[in-house]
Amino acid sequence: MRAYDLIQKKKEGKALSKEEIGFLVHGFTCGDIPDYQMSAFLMAVCFQGMTDEETTDLTLAMAYSGETADLSSLGALSADKHSSGGVADTTTPIVAPLAAALGVKVAKMSGRGLGHTGGTVDKLESIPGYQTSMPLAQFMEQTQMLGVCVIGQTQNLAPADKKLYALRDVTATVDSIPLIAASIMSKKIASGAQNIVLDVKVGAGAFMKTKEDAEQLARLMVAIGKLANRNTAAFLTDMDIPLGLAVGNSIEISEAMAVLKNEKQGPLKTLSVALAAQMASLAFGKKYEDCLIEAEEALSSGKAFSVAKQWIRAQGGDILCLTDESRFKQPKFVCEVKAEHSGFIHAIHAEQIGIAACGLGTGRMKKEDTIDPSAGIVLKKTVGDFVSCGGVLAVLYTDKEEQIKEAKRKVLDAFSFAEQEPEKSDLIMKVIR
Ligand code: URA
Ligand code: CA
Repeated sequence: MRAYDLIQKKKEGKALSKEEIGFLVHGFTCGDIPDYQMSAFLMAVCFQGMTDEETTDLTLAMAYSGETADLSSLGALSADKHSSGGVADTTTPIVAPLAAALGVKVAKMSGRGLGHTGGTVDKLESIPGYQTSMPLAQFMEQTQMLGVCVIGQTQNLAPADKKLYALRDVTATVDSIPLIAASIMSKKIASGAQNIVLDVKVGAGAFMKTKEDAEQLARLMVAIGKLANRNTAAFLTDMDIPLGLAVGNSIEISEAMAVLKNEKQGPLKTLSVALAAQMASLAFGKKYEDCLIEAEEALSSGKAFSVAKQWIRAQGGDILCLTDESRFKQPKFVCEVKAEHSGFIHAIHAEQIGIAACGLGTGRMKKEDTIDPSAGIVLKKTVGDFVSCGGVLAVLYTDKEEQIKEAKRKVLDAFSFAEQEPEKSDLIMKVIR
C-alpha cells in the first residue's frame, strides 16, 4: 500500500477501507508517513468528507494507537463525559461526584488547559495537596470504592490524535466534522468507559457555529459510540451564555462546590445535573427524567457534596478549602471592573474573558508556563441582567499588577449592551441518544 494512492483515492471522493485507514494512522503515528502526505490526506477529507463507516474506522485506529484504560472491572457502570471546550465550564468537578452519588463509576482522565481554555486538572491542582497522577491499580481501586477518581491523561493515550491534532492545527484542517468526531471519540474510547455523555457546544466561540453542524457532529459521535459498543448520548448546548460566573482555577472550584452544596442555581448547575443524570440513565438503563429527579435529590440531601469530600480527601486534597475559601492561595490584587454605560447585557464574549483571565495568570501560553491558582475573573453580571453606569461587571484577581489595566479593557470590551432585555435562549437545545 502507498500513502500516495490513498490520498489520490480520497481526493476523488472515494471511501477508504478499514485496512487503508489503519495503514495511514499507524504509518503516520510511527513516523513512516511524513507530515506532508498526512496533511494532503487531511485536506482531501476536509473537501470530500468521510462515510460514517470510514469515520468509525478512523476513530478506532486512533483509539488503539497507544495505551487504553481497561475499566472492565467496573462492569457496565463506568461512565465518562466530554465537553467540547469552553470558558467558565467547570462541569467535571460537579458532574463526577454527582454521578458517583447516583451509583455511576467515574474513572476519569482529564486534560490541562492550553491558551485561554481552562483544564480540569489545573483547576483541581489549585486545591492544596490534590494529586493528579497515581498508579493505574490505585485509580481503579479508588473508583471501585468511592465511585469517582479524576487524574491527568496519561502521555500515551491515543498518541495518533495528539500528532494529528498538532498537524491539523497548523494546516487549517481542524474544522472537518468527521475529523473532530474521530478526535474526540478516539480519546473517549481509549479512556475505557462503557457509557459516554457528550456536551457539544454551539455558538460563536465554539467549534460548531451553527445548530445544524453541531447536530451532525453529535449524531456522528453517537453513531461511532454505538458501533464501538459504548452507550453514547450527546447534548447540544448554547455556548453564548457563560455557564458559570468564575473563570480561573481555585475560584472555579469554589463555584463548583457551591453547586454541590446546593447553594447555587443557574446554567452551570442545570447542565451539570443534566450530564450526571444522562450518565446514570445510560449506565443503569433508567429513564433520563427519573435520573434528573435523583440528581436533584443528591444535591439537596447533601449526598453529592459528601461524595465530593471523600473523593478529594482520597486524592490528598485539603477538604477544608471546600468550605473555607481563605485556605486557598490568595491573590495580591483584587480589582473591580465597572460599567461605562447603562443597559441590558446582550452578550458576553466568553473567549475574550478567557484571554483576559489568562493574562492575569490563569493559564499557559506555552506548555512550560506556570499557572497562578488564585488568578481569574468573577463575573458579577450575566446575559439579560440590567446594569447602571458605574455598576460592577466583574472582579479581577491577580498577582500581576501590570496586567490589570489591559485585563480591565478586555473585560469591558467583552460585554455588549442593548436597550431592551434580550430574549432568553435555551441552554440545552437538544438531546441525542
Ligand atoms: N476537540 C478535540 O479533542 N478534537 C477536535 O478535533 C476538536 C475538539
Ligand atoms: Ca474554563
